[in-house]
Amino acid sequence: MPTTVLIGAQWGDEGKGKVTDHLSESADVVVRYQGGNNAGHTIVVGDERFALTLIPSGVLYPQVTPVIGNGCVIDPNVLVTEMAELDSRGIDPTRLRISGNAHLIMPYHRKLDAVLERFLGQQQIGTTKRGIGPAYMDKYSRQGIRVQDLFDPKIFRQKLDIAIKDKNKILTKVYNSLPIDAEPIAEEYLDYADSLRDYVTDTSLLLWRAQQAGKKVIFEGAQGTLLDIDHGTYPFVTSSNPTAGGAPIGSGIGPKTIDKVLGVAKAYITRVGTGPFPTELHDDVGNRMVDLGGEFGTVTGRRRRCGWLDLVALRYAVRVNGLTELAMTKLDILSHFDMLKVAVAYDSLGERFEEFPRQQRVLYNCHPVYEELPGWSTDISDVRNYGDLPKEARSYIEYVEETIGIPVTMIGVGPARDATVLRAT
Ligand code: GDP
Ligand code: IMO
Ligand code: MG
Repeated sequence: MPTTVLIGAQWGDEGKGKVTDHLSESADVVVRYQGGNNAGHTIVVGDERFALTLIPSGVLYPQVTPVIGNGCVIDPNVLVTEMAELDSRGIDPTRLRISGNAHLIMPYHRKLDAVLERFLGQQQIGTTKRGIGPAYMDKYSRQGIRVQDLFDPKIFRQKLDIAIKDKNKILTKVYNSLPIDAEPIAEEYLDYADSLRDYVTDTSLLLWRAQQAGKKVIFEGAQGTLLDIDHGTYPFVTSSNPTAGGAPIGSGIGPKTIDKVLGVAKAYITRVGTGPFPTELHDDVGNRMVDLGGEFGTVTGRRRRCGWLDLVALRYAVRVNGLTELAMTKLDILSHFDMLKVAVAYDSLGERFEEFPRQQRVLYNCHPVYEELPGWSTDISDVRNYGDLPKEARSYIEYVEETIGIPVTMIGVGPARDATVLRAT
């Protein structure tokens, strides 16, 4: 299938980096279409670990053209640093192509992200403080500065002056914070023009041509379905559309050119930041998931909240993304538990919900209805063939497939590139 969209089916950190890397071996183009350096995608190759925040995971393969699409927000300092880091590790970053329509994260976006969170206090989102929300706010209020503006210093200065005037009013008058100075920002950002000039192109056209030539194109979602600004657990979400519908919009391709939509979900579920989480465990089981799964954020190092696999939420992800198949990661972590639970419904406010509730009030009061499944208590990290998995592990996978109605075609049994069990469909 030439065009595949890969998305996070939970609250992010599902292992999208590893799965994208796996698919990239035979890919020609790998595209990020939303988000920015709030993402942290880990790929383990032998003894080496790569944690990519902005550059698509496909960059590790020399035949891949990595693309940052128009739907992304770019912190140029982070981008230039990530490119230099890859270069220093023997990965050529010069194949990267960047949309001139992508928006820039400016220093005042980071500052506003921090003051907005402070202002929210107890109600804070727990953002990554990378300036993501404020950058998208400017995009939609049509005050954003785009990558292409870096190459026209006069326009850049004009837009920056307008933005700074506005931001300084907000910072000083609303948030009682110090104003910011335009001059050092202009100097810093106009320097990036030289570093990035060669990589900026019409990425929509690039993708069109690649698709016309029958090339294999992969869209690598960042964050996850439940963090989607429209379909997630609003307001505890990110400010973009990680769901599959975001891919055509965030890259400039037509929706009918997508052949396959692959969801990535952990065999359990995690969340970083605040917001409702029906299957969250506050007990020793949850603590063990954190320890065994190494559940600490790639970007911020924050401890991830952990819980049993939520099949209500996963069926929702199948629906809102139109998933055609699922990659289930971290099955090896469940080897340490004798008995496993999966949520099949929620009880809330005196009602039973089999579909993901759309009302925040309902979601907050949810008590999951669990199905218990036997564990396998055997190390599966060396298994490479589906038939060699313990029967309880296969039953777990097959129970999930039956409940969500799509096949699990890929199973992760370890962080390494080859620690994957593939299943024919
Ligand atoms: P992403 O944001 O979706 O790319 O996921 P992250 O990289 O933030 O977090 C996933 C973590 O799980 C990383 O540390 C991966 O190396 C690791 N990982 C991915 N797949 C597996 C797996 O099947 N088993 C284990 N044990 N770890 C995995
Ligand atoms: P990857 O791509 C997990 C969460 C933050 C916060 C909310 C809003 O690695 O899966 P933001 O900075 O985006 O405004 O924060 O979204 N969040 C993520 N959680 N994985 C991510 O990315 C995330 N990116 C943002 O923790 O709750
Ligand atoms: Mg991550």
